[in-house]
Amino acid sequence: MKQNMITSECSRRQFLAKLSIALSSIAGTLVAIPVVGSIIAPLFQKKPETWRAVGAIESFKIGDTVKVEYLDSSPLPWAGITAKSAAWLRRVSDEKFIVFSVNCAHLGCPVRWVEGAKLFMCPCHGGVYYEDGSVASGPPPRGLYQYPVRVQNGQVEILASPIPITTI
Ligand code: FES
Repeated sequence: MKQNMITSECSRRQFLAKLSIALSSIAGTLVAIPVVGSIIAPLFQKKPETWRAVGAIESFKIGDTVKVEYLDSSPLPWAGITAKSAAWLRRVSDEKFIVFSVNCAHLGCPVRWVEGAKLFMCPCHGGVYYEDGSVASGPPPRGLYQYPVRVQNGQVEILASPIPITTI
């Protein structure tokens, strides 16, 4: 009789231990699925790209490099003013434009165009870029990203995409 009770106690304890492990595993899986999903989902999402008009063709002077603003390619409904982005646009000839990212290729700080020196300067860590966007000095590992650009119905348009720091 006593032997039976011990065996029964032992098997109940084993059952509860196994049940506890099983429930913990289920709970862990339920928590892990959305976390893992949110981590790997961006790998399978198509990069949102949209052509954005940045100004009428005649508003840009040949040889000038000016800052242009445009709406982010996939603005969130609550983004407000942060949905606005910027780029450096240069009109090279009647129909040819070059558009550089405003974000430094190092860590993304906004670079500014210094007309007198014909250089793009980054205020964060001293990154400097030549007129053609290539690296002149400092920590940037590569030149400034260049946006695809086109002229459509008298408007200059750039192919806007998420901040191109890590997409090159
Ligand atoms: S972010 Fe521009 S040099 Fe570091």
